[in-house]
Amino acid sequence: MLKLIDGKQLAQKRREEIKLAVEELKTQGITPGLAVILVGEDPASQVYVRNKEKACHEVGFYSEVHRLPADTSQEDLLNLIDRLNNDEKIHGLLVQLPVPKHIDEKAVIHAISPKKDVDGFLPENLGSLLIGEQAFEPCTPKGCIDLIKESGMEIAGKKAVVVGRSNIVGKPVAMMLLREHATVTICHSKTKNLKEELLAADIVVAAIGRANFITGDMIKDGAVVIDVGINRLPDGKMAGDVDRASLEGRDCWLTPVPGGVGPMTITMLMKNTLESATR
Ligand code: GUN
Repeated sequence: MLKLIDGKQLAQKRREEIKLAVEELKTQGITPGLAVILVGEDPASQVYVRNKEKACHEVGFYSEVHRLPADTSQEDLLNLIDRLNNDEKIHGLLVQLPVPKHIDEKAVIHAISPKKDVDGFLPENLGSLLIGEQAFEPCTPKGCIDLIKESGMEIAGKKAVVVGRSNIVGKPVAMMLLREHATVTICHSKTKNLKEELLAADIVVAAIGRANFITGDMIKDGAVVIDVGINRLPDGKMAGDVDRASLEGRDCWLTPVPGGVGPMTITMLMKNTLESATR
């Protein structure tokens, strides 16, 4: 029988834990603070930012959201980042992506202090992850690892296949699986024998960005499948990268879309912000 890993429930459990830790920190006079900058009116970004703000309130954080007009200059944005980098109330700082075209995204990300980079996007944090030093781990990969463990599967010694090689999901999740002692293969659009690779996998992390791309015939019995995909179908419905219907009745674990990886990502952002305040 296909078993679903409930990301909503796990995220709730983690938020309760964070909330308790925040109460404890507050007795020492520290309130974790997260600042989010949103430039422009991208509808999806507005939803994400609102959810981040809500999550902050839920766990007891101090929260600042800076909503800037789409024609904000890069200089003004960099000045605001600089101010927040030096604001002691703020332990975590992020600029919601994408930024408008006239702004250099890389320059903006690199302006954030690595000490406040709770998204884990900066080379300093990704490099620390690579060599096993303390770092802010990118939120989606961190959520994936938590979900795999929630299935009860022990990662050490298992064969993990990551499909997708992005800097924010594929590459970091591969590093984190390696740190957990999995044998890791990274597949991508140029991989020649994807089905063969997948059929050998005990753990699959699908981060491709193509609806229902991975089907049941590519997954072996007993596998844990983490679906990072968020794809909009022509009918407006949301679909993951994994075709859930083709896995029904199979002896596997799967994170549903929605309700799998999604709720974990913002929760891990809260966890990183808490960690930053604790440091
Ligand atoms: N846009 C989509 N996802 C993210 C995220 O995790 N962080 C930031 N900063 N922007 C995003």
